[in-house]
Amino acid sequence: MITQILNPIKDNCACQKAAQLLKQGEVVAIPTETVYGLSANALDPFAVKKIFKAKGRPQDNPLIIHIAHANQMYELAKDIPQSAKELINVFWPAPLTIILKKSDIIPDDVSAGLDSVGIRLPKNEIAREIIQNCGFPLAAPSANTSGKPSPTKAKHVIDDLNGKIAAVVDGGSCCIGVESTVISFIEQKPRLLRPGGITLEQIESVIGNVEIDKAINSKINNNEKVRAPGMKYRHYAPRASVIVVCGRPEKTAEYIKQNAKENSGIICFDEYEHFFKTYEFRKIGSKDNISEQAKNIFEVLRQFDETNVCEIFAQCPSEDGLGLAVSNRLKKASGFNFITV
Ligand code: TXA
Ligand code: MG
Repeated sequence: MITQILNPIKDNCACQKAAQLLKQGEVVAIPTETVYGLSANALDPFAVKKIFKAKGRPQDNPLIIHIAHANQMYELAKDIPQSAKELINVFWPAPLTIILKKSDIIPDDVSAGLDSVGIRLPKNEIAREIIQNCGFPLAAPSANTSGKPSPTKAKHVIDDLNGKIAAVVDGGSCCIGVESTVISFIEQKPRLLRPGGITLEQIESVIGNVEIDKAINSKINNNEKVRAPGMKYRHYAPRASVIVVCGRPEKTAEYIKQNAKENSGIICFDEYEHFFKTYEFRKIGSKDNISEQAKNIFEVLRQFDETNVCEIFAQCPSEDGLGLAVSNRLKKASGFNFITV
């Protein structure tokens, strides 16, 4: 299969062409404000199967459904609690996925056999235009090969999936860079399953305290119950092993400097570049600029696959605001191999 690259800046019809392919049951990678998504008609089980095949995604990992108008949610979910509606009213369109009881029209392939469904109204206008042109909602996981860091540029999608999907819509770099926040309303109390583009602080300012799922901060054993099936897989992982170093930036830089070996790679804040000049290092942004760190983290993890480093030390951001999402992605990339200094 030849993978087309559609560019809405150069071609006015790019979104219509993408929708045309999706209507034919094909799989198309689309930009969103968080990361690129690998989309297909959420109501067509045959199209959805192609997503799993292209990514090599485990069958038990459910997909998020993307919609173009908040009202579409009522066809896809039932028994929607008031607190979920409040969050949606305040934030959507946004990097915020809500897990609700699913309605009967959701194919089992999308929900991976669960009786719930994740729904998101993305902010990215190209994504919404494509969904609107389709007239049906789009199931879309991140458009990477399973296990690899999520793609934040069309190039990353091509690196992973060229020849396996019908098209990529090139919408430039994703402006947030980490995936959506996933919050579940299936149990009595709302539960954060994945930190992301909308922060825990923002959510709690609207609906009060939420439970924090254990899988965010620690490895889940095989016999433990997982609420977000995706959280049990090693994820975002470069080829080299990762060691995440948490603590105040000046301390973590010092620790890494003392422990790095000749062939170690380093992920550091801009301010500590001079510590690591003799190493294979990548900067993720200023220590105080979490949005910049979020934008760069996946690309930096990908870049190490083009080097020969055999272990990567990473300075971990603080866990406030968007930092919780960035540190979660680093910790997952390391298989929760982290230390605090
Ligand atoms: O920002 C995002 O959310 C991106 C863009 C493309 O929208 N999508 C994305 O999808 O990150 P994915 O499939 O890579 O991650 C979705 C996560 C997985 O960990 C999955 O297990 C979880 O959400 N999830 C999806 N549906 C669920 C459900 N019904 N119950 C619990 N967890 C669910
Ligand atoms: Mg993913």
